Amino acid sequence: EEQKIQITSLGLFPYKGINLVRGVHQVQHLDSLEKFEIRGDDIVAVTYPRSGTTWTQYILSLLYHGDQMTEGSNKHPIQELVPLLEDNIRRIDYNNKPSTRTFASHLHLSSIPQGLREKGKLIYIARNPKDVAVSLFHLHNFTNVLESEPDFNIFLIKFLKGEVLWGSWFDHVADWYAHKDEFDILSLTYEDMIKDTRGAVVRISNFLGKKLDDQTIDTIVDKSTFKNMKEDPQARRDKQHPAFFEQSGSFIRKGKVGDWKTMFTVAQSETFDHIYMKKMKDVPLEFDWEL
Ligand code: A3P
Repeated sequence: EEQKIQITSLGLFPYKGINLVRGVHQVQHLDSLEKFEIRGDDIVAVTYPRSGTTWTQYILSLLYHGDQMTEGSNKHPIQELVPLLEDNIRRIDYNNKPSTRTFASHLHLSSIPQGLREKGKLIYIARNPKDVAVSLFHLHNFTNVLESEPDFNIFLIKFLKGEVLWGSWFDHVADWYAHKDEFDILSLTYEDMIKDTRGAVVRISNFLGKKLDDQTIDTIVDKSTFKNMKEDPQARRDKQHPAFFEQSGSFIRKGKVGDWKTMFTVAQSETFDHIYMKKMKDVPLEFDWEL
């Protein structure tokens, strides 16, 4: 296994052409995922990183495992309640996990468990890629498992080339969109979730076949606000795995639409738009770039 791992300058290694994180992603586990046995009631939230994964994990936790999120010794982190299929740092036996199993995943379409084409439900969340780039830039510099890249321009070039953690945003979103009709899938954007969180929670719960009363919906919306999640250590990967992160940062950082404007120069934005138009011309997605 060690021989298969080739380290690049950022502490990343390529797996099927996509940069993953050494020490977090295990080749053997990744190889097993294609044939991972899916159940009819499985739910997987799929995202490119920094697109609303944690937020969706939190909403799914509230929908399915609310009793395990309450105070006391019974309180479980969302990474356990809605684990990332591909990480499994916690060594949970996914095959024996009781139903309803809820997962998150950053997997590109090409590596997703094949069984999801026949069974299970997917929620795909996409976020405008300028905000994703800025958020990922901060993550790169705040985690200890990757080499820092303090120069945003260098980082942005890597992002546009797909040389960052989890590869190309463009490929991830375009591939999933091209094939989404092959799955039972609900697609949302991060910006939809920001603009109308209640509407997003209703769409998610309806899609999952849950009929919730207004009060339950209000409670879920209230608990999954940016502020509440930031204050809940069970929601924060940096609090769950402190060795992986600088304590000065926060995995739940700003939660804004249009934060890219604080980082991008006009020239960077124009280069980005040019590449975006070329790569995304066939993808029927409209993002809010600012609100
Ligand atoms: P920022 O870095 O722009 O603040 P992921 O969980 O996919 O890695 O995405 C992380 C991004 O989602 C971060 O964006 C984080 O702040 C934001 N986020 C997490 N929880 C949120 C919430 N409840 N409301 C709004 N944004 C949230």
